[in-house]
Amino acid sequence: MSRSAHPAGPRHADVLPEGHYSAPPADLNALDQKVWAQTVSRGDDGVVTVGGIPVSRLAEEFGTPAYVLDEADFRSRARAWRTAFGPDADVFYAGKAFLSRAVVRWLNEEGLNLDVCSGGELATALSAGMPAERIAFHGNNKSVAEITRAVEAGVGRIVLDSFQEIVRVAHVAQSLGKRQKVQIRITVGVEAHTHEFIATAHEDQKFGIPLAGGQAAEAVRRALQLDGLELIGIHSHIGSQIFDMSGFEVAAHRVVGLLKDIRDEHGVELPEIDLGGGLGIAYTSDDDPREPHEIAKALTEIVTRECEAARLRTPRISVEPGRAIVGPTAFTLYEVGTVKPLDGLRTYVSVDGGMSDNIRTALYDAEYSVALVSRASDAEPMLARVVGKHCESGDIVVKDAFLPSDLAPGDLIAVPATGAYCRSMASNYNHVLRPPVVAVRDGEARVIVRRETEEDLLRLDVG
Ligand code: LLP
Repeated sequence: MSRSAHPAGPRHADVLPEGHYSAPPADLNALDQKVWAQTVSRGDDGVVTVGGIPVSRLAEEFGTPAYVLDEADFRSRARAWRTAFGPDADVFYAGKAFLSRAVVRWLNEEGLNLDVCSGGELATALSAGMPAERIAFHGNNKSVAEITRAVEAGVGRIVLDSFQEIVRVAHVAQSLGKRQKVQIRITVGVEAHTHEFIATAHEDQKFGIPLAGGQAAEAVRRALQLDGLELIGIHSHIGSQIFDMSGFEVAAHRVVGLLKDIRDEHGVELPEIDLGGGLGIAYTSDDDPREPHEIAKALTEIVTRECEAARLRTPRISVEPGRAIVGPTAFTLYEVGTVKPLDGLRTYVSVDGGMSDNIRTALYDAEYSVALVSRASDAEPMLARVVGKHCESGDIVVKDAFLPSDLAPGDLIAVPATGAYCRSMASNYNHVLRPPVVAVRDGEARVIVRRETEEDLLRLDVG
């Protein structure tokens, strides 16, 4: 059969191939609030708006592709985390999910702290006025230059990730005549139910110091002996995109167990524990994330209970959500370039971006949703695969999704829940230019990270 015989492409369940999808949704024009930013809705004219602005206007003004970020949603999620944990705990936003100077200012205003894990993230945080004492510095291989910058700036804590780093940070702090507050990151041996590449508390991986075999206890011994260090707590991060709280429960149990051993051996009760980030968000309607207040209640109860059982004072808890704050607040706006129906398979919809602005589908087999946003449509659903413009067949943005079968070049489609780990993991593959981040609030849109230009590319190319 000719591949171009049916311009509208495969349509209904009678021809659906294997995939990650269920039946087509009853109404393709409906926008599930679970996966879209708070102020997103479809207007009477069928055009989707965010913060009161139609996406067609955003595309005209800022071009496509573009990450469109709902500032009100970001702030309200940040506030919800802050309020849920209250004054006796700290929320460190994980900057790796998405960081820009505007974001740093919003966090600062909403009373959150910031977790950075490179010199670049630290520079962004400091340049936007985040007070250094509210910054935590992470990473499994911080350079001496990065450590020096962090200690000089006066960061609130450095999270130590190896035996070498214990000595390195102590040495830098001492040579600067300072005593640096530190936590030790341990691996508690929990298998988080998530993709292997984003699970971080099992032992066979690069992060942290294993609790098993007494290594974490030995790290504590060494840190307590060094004058340059003030050991304030233990850190554990079990992975990302986690829905099941049982992993945190086991982690908290083991971290508190270590605190108890430290008290018994050294007579010291460490005042803090950090349980990391990793809370999942809804990428599709099938995901059911927990609310910050439920998470706060669950974590606080676990730690309090474990500490009571161990007769320890309950330490100050901190958490490091990244995705759960920024993930749902943004969508990527693309223009459809080509629509290619493959009989008996699916329709390939090519957009003007791809794996360079969202590597998560290729890297983790991540699932996303997608909607036609520049107009409403009553056409039949067609099974579509949204792909990019890169020279790779794995350049897939949304693997399986239903879009209206009258979709055509020039239509705008949007992929929700791309606020986390999309711009921050974007690349220049094929010398495709990285999209801007446009923040929208109360009827106003402004660029917070501008689109990359060919001049930017050529400026780096000095050969
Ligand atoms: N704290 C630490 C020490 C971390 O390593 C991470 C994430 C977080 C907090 C924040 O985790 P979140 O709440 O955002 O899940 N690129 C992957 C995720 C890698 C996360 C690395 N560390 C993805 O796109 O799913």
